[in-house]
Amino acid sequence: MRDPFGRTVDYLRVSVTDRCNYRCSYCMAEDMTFLPRRELLSLEEMQRLCMVFIDEGVRKLRITGGEPLVRRDIMTLFHGLSRRLVDGSLDELTLTTNGALLKRYAAELADCGVRRVNVSLDTLDPERFQALTRLGDIAPVLEGMAAARSAGMQVKVNTVALKGINDGELNRLLGWCGDQGYDLTLIESMPMGEIGQLRDDHFMRLDQARAILEEHWTLEDSNHQTGGPSRYADVRELGNRVGFITPYSHNFCESCNRVRLTCTGTLYLCLGQDDAVDLRAPLREGGSDEMLRTAILDAITRKPKGHDFDETRLADGAQVIRFMSHTGG
Ligand code: 5AD
Ligand code: SF4
Repeated sequence: MRDPFGRTVDYLRVSVTDRCNYRCSYCMAEDMTFLPRRELLSLEEMQRLCMVFIDEGVRKLRITGGEPLVRRDIMTLFHGLSRRLVDGSLDELTLTTNGALLKRYAAELADCGVRRVNVSLDTLDPERFQALTRLGDIAPVLEGMAAARSAGMQVKVNTVALKGINDGELNRLLGWCGDQGYDLTLIESMPMGEIGQLRDDHFMRLDQARAILEEHWTLEDSNHQTGGPSRYADVRELGNRVGFITPYSHNFCESCNRVRLTCTGTLYLCLGQDDAVDLRAPLREGGSDEMLRTAILDAITRKPKGHDFDETRLADGAQVIRFMSHTGG
């Protein structure tokens, strides 16, 4: 699949639920209202759509949420998709999780061919962790990561850089990741969803975060690519890597190879734009694979050139009113 700007779209991110057992303050409001169940695609419907995407050239699938592991019977989807890894029509099946339930599923995920997992962790301090996630206990998250590592998966820690919250512990976090054998990716907070507080209070540019890390560690720019928007550097003293996801910088959109399917079957062509196509209606109206295929290919022709997040507009509140937990990060 090729979009009008010549970018090959071979990466699909699928949000399997908008629910989460945490309420991270930059992600959700405290009193979130979740979607009624009938709105959600069934796992069978999700799998069917994924198969059509794979037939059309998607080589990499990431399962996200919300928190994907809170979706009941989620492993049936992994088992179904793993068949396409086995027959070679899919290169990679990955997962983004908050880690709370990872210990329980790590071995089974590895059996399904999941080789890499991204775990969100914004702090190593148990109290700060609880405050930030509003509901979270850090211990099972750390155990979940260790279980994933033991099962043979590569663990990448995703950390949203937050001024005044975790900027003081970024060095420690990177050192800890190095000790554990994990890579670290820092993410700039993005203006998504109405979370009921001013987001720019804690907004932090990643060049600032990088400068903090470089006071302690030697970062050497690397050409490493994972198919995502991260730019990586090798950490000389630790032997691991640190990635930077900076939606406000330039390379983000130019090399974009992905589209996102929400848990309600809406296909978003860009994280930061509202262009979307509903795939649930054709699915539920008994549409053939051919009709789904046409709808998908038609959508790809509408993939926009880029998002227009604008730092200077952060103070006006969220620009993209969709929550990340709905679209999938
Ligand atoms: N800005 C940046 N990152 C976010 N995440 C969730 N909401 C936001 C936001 N508004 C992060 C999660 C997770 C990753 C998929 O996205 O912490 O690590
Ligand atoms: Fe849940 Fe992830 Fe959002 Fe936190 S950032 S509330 S763990 S979906």
